[in-house]
Amino acid sequence: MTRKIAVADLRVGMYVQDLNCGWMDHPFLRKEIELTREDQIARIRDAGIREVYIDPARGLDGPGQDAIDAEREIEREMIAFAEAEQPQPRQTSFREEAETAKKIQGEANRLIRDLMQDVRLGRQIDSERIEPVVENITQSILRNGGALLSLCRIKNKDDYTFQHSVSVCGLQTAFCRALQMGHEDIHEAGIGGLLHDIGKTRVADEILNKPGRLTEEEFAQIKCHVVESRRILEQTPGISATAVLVAAQHHERHDGTGYPLGLKGEEISQMGQMAAIVDVYDAITSDRCYHKGLEPNEAMRKIFEWGKFHFNPVLVHAFTRCIGIYPTGSLVRLESDRLAVVIGQCEGNLLQPLVRVIHCARRNRPLPPQELDLSRPGAGGDRILRYEKPEAWGIDIALLLA
Ligand SMILES: [Fe+2]
Repeated sequence: MTRKIAVADLRVGMYVQDLNCGWMDHPFLRKEIELTREDQIARIRDAGIREVYIDPARGLDGPGQDAIDAEREIEREMIAFAEAEQPQPRQTSFREEAETAKKIQGEANRLIRDLMQDVRLGRQIDSERIEPVVENITQSILRNGGALLSLCRIKNKDDYTFQHSVSVCGLQTAFCRALQMGHEDIHEAGIGGLLHDIGKTRVADEILNKPGRLTEEEFAQIKCHVVESRRILEQTPGISATAVLVAAQHHERHDGTGYPLGLKGEEISQMGQMAAIVDVYDAITSDRCYHKGLEPNEAMRKIFEWGKFHFNPVLVHAFTRCIGIYPTGSLVRLESDRLAVVIGQCEGNLLQPLVRVIHCARRNRPLPPQELDLSRPGAGGDRILRYEKPEAWGIDIALLLA
């Protein structure tokens, strides 16, 4: 049984089983560390990590809460939050939007690839090319966010930076919508999301894609991408201050442990605070050369957990409202003993999303796909019992959503 303890309570002799922090935000290669020296604890503290999971069976024990208790507490909090929501209608169905969303995603991937190439060659970014693409993304999210966001989950390792940029654009747009922002703010936030990592063009590919542990110097170089993104966008005619904020502040953290400026709380703009949540959510749900991505529901639980320190908790709640308690792409077991993939959210009714039934759990046999809106009477009162791990059933979610 692992235990969750505060970093302040870490001692030499303990075995850290999980650093409990987004992989993008710390210089450690592995999540597990046997603490044999004080400087290891200092490095964990300096990386801005506040709570970790230790394994008392492999090292010293300490004060804290058992991991299962901690997880249940987070889940209870999330469910209580979801039950207090009010339902709102969707504009189009997932199926109607899926084809359009695929085209929009392809177009956005090609655009960000071209723009990054332009920056590498020292050319000016053409902001007029960005406008229509981001507008298409905004409109797709407004019609039915689930369609584009589920496609954005599927990434191939070589094109990670482009696909992550498009995902952050879609997620930031959906987040703005959940906060009921006006169309112009949504659009500008989307542009900021698409271009937030443009400064990575100034970091060597060998460092960006290094599978091993980064040296302090390499980690410092990666951090520079934020300052570079800001500089590039400020020098681009037609890019708004809102878009610049998304790029400039997406690595700042609510408790002041982020970079480049170490801003705290309200010193970070709302757009910057939102971008931080979105960027981490997409990063930890993606497969990279050095880690396997978390399932969306596990990632949401992490975001909820980190909301106490790294993010603004009010914004974490708002983000949950657009991503859902059972995010799009999660595999769930229904009361009818069937497995289903979540393909869309019913806003304001986070416990009853739209699902595609695919498998009979009792007979362990595939079923002809059938869409079911759990919030409607047509679902026959079926409801979600729990999450299931796709690999335990040999199910490839990416294939099902493609
Ligand atoms: Fe970044």
